[in-house]
Amino acid sequence: MSLEHYSQWLLSVQLLLLYSMVATASKVPALIVFGDSSVDSGNNNYIQTVARSNFRPYGRDLGGGSPTGRFSNGRLTTDFLSEALGLPRLVPAYLNPNMSIAEFASGVCFASAGTGYDNATSDVLSVIPLWKELEYFKEYREKLKSFQGEAKAQETLSEALYVMSLGTNDFVENYYVLPHRPSQFTVAEYEDFLVGIAEEFVRSIYKLGARKVELTGLPPMGCLPLERVKINPILRGCYEEYNKVAWDFNIKLQKLVDNLNQNLAGIRIVYGDVYDILFDAVQNSSSYGFENVMVGCCGTGLFEMSYMCNRRSPFTCSDANKYAFWDSMHPTERLNNIIADKLMNTTLHVFL
Ligand SMILES: *[C@@H]1O[C@H](CO)[C@@H](O)[C@H](O)[C@H]1NC(C)=O
Ligand SMILES: *[C@@H]1O[C@H](CO)[C@@H](O)[C@H](O)[C@H]1NC(C)=O
Ligand SMILES: *[C@@H]1O[C@H](CO)[C@@H](O)[C@H](O)[C@H]1NC(C)=O
Ligand SMILES: *[C@@H]1O[C@H](CO)[C@@H](O)[C@H](O)[C@H]1NC(C)=O
Repeated sequence: MSLEHYSQWLLSVQLLLLYSMVATASKVPALIVFGDSSVDSGNNNYIQTVARSNFRPYGRDLGGGSPTGRFSNGRLTTDFLSEALGLPRLVPAYLNPNMSIAEFASGVCFASAGTGYDNATSDVLSVIPLWKELEYFKEYREKLKSFQGEAKAQETLSEALYVMSLGTNDFVENYYVLPHRPSQFTVAEYEDFLVGIAEEFVRSIYKLGARKVELTGLPPMGCLPLERVKINPILRGCYEEYNKVAWDFNIKLQKLVDNLNQNLAGIRIVYGDVYDILFDAVQNSSSYGFENVMVGCCGTGLFEMSYMCNRRSPFTCSDANKYAFWDSMHPTERLNNIIADKLMNTTLHVFL
């Protein structure tokens, strides 16, 4: 091959590579997130609530140690998912006034720590209810149309991946703590009530253009440090009753996923199984390199979260990578990374 031919050949190879990169990257052009503290990247910083984490040591392992309002020492599962989809490393919070629609066009988070499917759950800590997350999404949709133009925005909205991650607070912050819902519903009825709200929500975003959706199941709630402690402060086993509720709820959620796939033309909705991933990490901790899965890294690890986990908390661990949980309820960045990798490998690869 002459030098001239060689350089032409090289150029075409480069173009081909570039083209395939662009083609892959545009498969899912945006990640759109709804939910609670498992995925809130900082919306609660901009509302009046005590469900906050925009202070140290939160975020201490996030690029230079910045507390962004994420309930972890670093990135969240959805941040890792975004990166795995070829999108930015961090999913920006919708209420952050420093972010523009140009940034939100490739990913946006409407989640709010402390919220649930049930309006009564978001009332407990005055956080953003799920219906309000939907209102924000509608507002975003209009901004996206102005920014990208009608046709391009429709394409973004239908090719985007929508992640929903919530439900734990409906049980641990509401049903099992406050008297109102238990006086109305048995646990099984309450599960059905929540699943009904999940269904309405998916139908609403479907009408607004969503076609790729992941509905995340509940984690084994009884294995969260806070719940272990409540049940048996000495032995600290997982609280089986809470795990069973999570398990039963997840079965209902999976039925809903099957149902919606059959009934909403053109939708592809998947169930995100974080229960098994978390349970395995907690039960087989050593194979993950976790030295402690019973308590969180922050403070004593038994109860601290939000304002209780702060710079003055004594005993905060030095290496969060050895812990499954960062505070008494939320995974460390490392566990979030593991969850995201497994979700990509087992579930979300269908969208690539
Ligand atoms: C927003 O930008 C201003 C000015 O650059 C800066 O002072 C502030 O810290 C930023 N806020 C956030 C949440 O990034
Ligand atoms: C939650 O509140 C919103 C706004 O008031 C209302 O439209 C919605 O019907 C409520 N959801 C349920 C399940 O009650
Ligand atoms: C732990 O690992 C073993 C061996 O890989 C596996 O058989 C078992 O199911 C795992 N336990 C959990 C709770 O996933
Ligand atoms: C996911 O798949 C990749 C590539 O096959 C592999 O390297 C990685 O270990 C897997 N991760 C998990 C958590 O299964």
